[in-house]
Amino acid sequence: MPNYIIEGGKRLEGEVVVSGSKNASLPIMAAAILNAGTTKLYNIPKIRDTRITQDILKFLGCKVKRGNDKIEIQAKNIHRKEIPEDLMHQMRSTVILAGALLGRFKEAKFSYPGGCDIGARPIDLHLESFKKLGINITEEGGFIVCKCDKIMGAKIDLDFPSVGATENIILASVYAEGVTKITNAAMEPEIVDLADCLNKMGAKIEGAGTNVIQITGVKRLKDISYTVMPDRIEAGTLLCMIAATGGKAKLKQVVPEHISPVLNKLRECGCKIVESKNEIEIEAPKKLKPVDIKTMPYPGFPTDMQSVFASMLTTAKGTSMIIENIFENRYRYIPELRRMGAKAVIEGKTAVITGVRKLSGTTVKSTDLRGGAALVTAGLCAKGKTKVTDIEYILRGYEKLEEKLTSLGAIIYKEEGE
Ligand code: EPZ
Repeated sequence: MPNYIIEGGKRLEGEVVVSGSKNASLPIMAAAILNAGTTKLYNIPKIRDTRITQDILKFLGCKVKRGNDKIEIQAKNIHRKEIPEDLMHQMRSTVILAGALLGRFKEAKFSYPGGCDIGARPIDLHLESFKKLGINITEEGGFIVCKCDKIMGAKIDLDFPSVGATENIILASVYAEGVTKITNAAMEPEIVDLADCLNKMGAKIEGAGTNVIQITGVKRLKDISYTVMPDRIEAGTLLCMIAATGGKAKLKQVVPEHISPVLNKLRECGCKIVESKNEIEIEAPKKLKPVDIKTMPYPGFPTDMQSVFASMLTTAKGTSMIIENIFENRYRYIPELRRMGAKAVIEGKTAVITGVRKLSGTTVKSTDLRGGAALVTAGLCAKGKTKVTDIEYILRGYEKLEEKLTSLGAIIYKEEGE
């Protein structure tokens, strides 16, 4: 597995363009299944997760043409309704494809996605919601088999504003008989992007971005082109990496309000942040101030930013407190940071970080996508050389990360691991 080698201590400066959103691309690629024609999507990042989704679409029978930042999905002749088990285990968010298959074909077969690096990741909310839509769910040899004659619009109140469950209900309800109303729906920008794309295709979805979403069933969708939103978590990650090195830089092709809580916390740390329509400029102080963060569903502080932000705080001037409210196992990167000299203590959902003067480079192991990004952040500001191993986790969700960081003045390169 490849590694990153990072020479720490370089102040990041300059300009960088943020890629399209991984977490908007996945459900929007799934939405293409609903159109028995051709859907053209732009600004889709070339990362492992979009490639896996592409492979599953081809397995189902779609014709997929991949350009540089464009993907064309022709979904006329889908002849399979089963998500391959190995790909399901490689990426649990493929459960989104089930909602799209059910929406169009009223059937889907998939295996339990299983837990992952950051928690149990159950799909009980997805399955309960499918049942409310009139879908019969049985288990056959470890597979979940979903089938129905027609999908009936229903009122669904989510126990938790699950992003994936909200997306799956929308996808399954586009052609339903009648109206589906979701309350306590997730409000993430990626949900709005999915709804905007589906409405452009001819669906009737109202309220995306609020906690009440209404989907009125329609008869058909049409061929369209759609440009996916910028990746707000990549933007936040780059900002923290720049801030960790005391840098000054501009991010282009971003939507500042998608990460307002992150920008506000960076200001609390002493960073100067200037927002414009689709750019964010940041200038960090030599020494960051400590802050407390707690992760919440949107519009709160995003859980996906927790690890990178915490890593940046390891050299702040004082003690910070982090509370992770969304996933039960999202601190696995902290022991690796300790090996670089960070002072961090975990108590259940809380991590207490006491700032140290400097971290020291060493070899550390990526534990998951955003945990790996936290280790890169630490390597960028540590003294000496850091080797980050198992970076295929990081390559899942960040397009051309080392190129972007190199263009900002970092010394980072890939080496083939054993
Ligand atoms: C999406 O995951 C994102 N992934 C995650 O990003 C993100 O962290 C998460 O939303 C929260 O914002 C994609 O969009 C592909 P959830 P998802 O359903 O949909 C529990 C990244 O790093 N839950 O909102 O899986 C669940 O266990 C990834 O890019 C149930 O209990 O998140 C978790 O504790 C990581 N039952 C919480 O809800 C269910 O049926 C939030 O999960 C579903 C979820």
